[in-house]
Amino acid sequence: MTDADLHALAERYGTPLYLYDLDALADRVGLLREALPEAEVRYAVKANPAGAVLKRLAELGVGAEAITEGELARAVRAGIPGERIVLGGPGQGPATRRRAREVGTTQVSLDSLGQWRAWRDEGAARARFLVRVHPRFDPDTHPHLATGATGSKFGLSLDAARAVAREVDAAGLLDGFHVHAGSMIRDPGVHDRIVRMLDPLFRAFPRARALNLGGGFAVPGFDPASLAEVVQPFVAKRDLRLLLEPGRWLVAEAGQLLTRVLWRKEEEPGHWICDAGMAQLLRPALYDAHHPIRVVQRGGAHLPDAVPPAPRAHGEVQGPLCENADRLGRDRDLVAGPGDLLSVGLAGAYGMSMASNYASELRPAEVALDRDEARLIRRRESVEDLWQLEVE
Ligand code: LLP
Repeated sequence: MTDADLHALAERYGTPLYLYDLDALADRVGLLREALPEAEVRYAVKANPAGAVLKRLAELGVGAEAITEGELARAVRAGIPGERIVLGGPGQGPATRRRAREVGTTQVSLDSLGQWRAWRDEGAARARFLVRVHPRFDPDTHPHLATGATGSKFGLSLDAARAVAREVDAAGLLDGFHVHAGSMIRDPGVHDRIVRMLDPLFRAFPRARALNLGGGFAVPGFDPASLAEVVQPFVAKRDLRLLLEPGRWLVAEAGQLLTRVLWRKEEEPGHWICDAGMAQLLRPALYDAHHPIRVVQRGGAHLPDAVPPAPRAHGEVQGPLCENADRLGRDRDLVAGPGDLLSVGLAGAYGMSMASNYASELRPAEVALDRDEARLIRRRESVEDLWQLEVE
């Protein structure tokens, strides 16, 4: 997509606007499969649940990792069959379990003994079970994303995992073990530690045939070849089925958020106020996440008169709401003024999926670039949408 194309899309659909390149998404799937041909990919739906994204992944034979009833339903609606769905998460309440049975989910990751007993008592239908193990070390990422760190609510200690696995195995329903150490993991040493930690469990339970290593692969910075080096010898030696649950690594780079600068504070050149902020892209506010920001096009067609070009300045790219955290980026050097179109990169994952109606902001439209053609896949919300679910 050229900058002129981006400008044209912003004009046509308005800003803020999410844009996903589905061909780039397909390329990522190809890269992962090239490095790890034996891995069964279960895309983490929470990263980006857009129907068009899920549909393209379904066409490519990619499965889904779901944690809610909604994610299960979306996956199936997009054409992902139940046997390619892993249900995970520490919740799995009654409605989610019911839906998982209905859609024929074949793999459920157990996060607690209570979960197992609920499944056992209600009947597992087609499901087989993974026991999720807590790796008990910090994978060196943001504390909110370090699901494997000590004190996190996820998974079971080795001893507790053994106890649950014993019960599941006795019922003839043990499929294997699952670890998701956290998100934005760069270091392949993390996965090396995980497989070594799991080795005694696979030895103790020879009927456990599946290893689910979760997702969490950092963008940028994660190399699937380095994961292959660590994992392939292990799964080959034990003849295991390997599952991976990447979310971000597949979609982050395929997406961008287009936003327009509303104002540059003349008095304080270091504040650009844009039409997108924490309501559209929460990650900078919540995790202090870095998203690259660049100027797509200078000069707002929207301005009444020619505005003199803005000087280069240093500062924060911010949203329109009344919160200090309402920002898209800090410490940026930009030549940008009112009306200019900005592209916020790495926004395909956990962008729209975490967008909200905070301050009654309207969630943006989404456009997909699909086999070189751009099409609207979700319309911009209208103010009427804001109260559509209210009951008088
Ligand atoms: N599998 C499990 C069990 C997970 O909990 C997650 C993400 C994934 C796979 C996919 O992780 P990924 O490959 O996308 O890193 N909202 C945060 C990310 C939270 C991830 C939660 N679990 C963010 O915006 O960075």
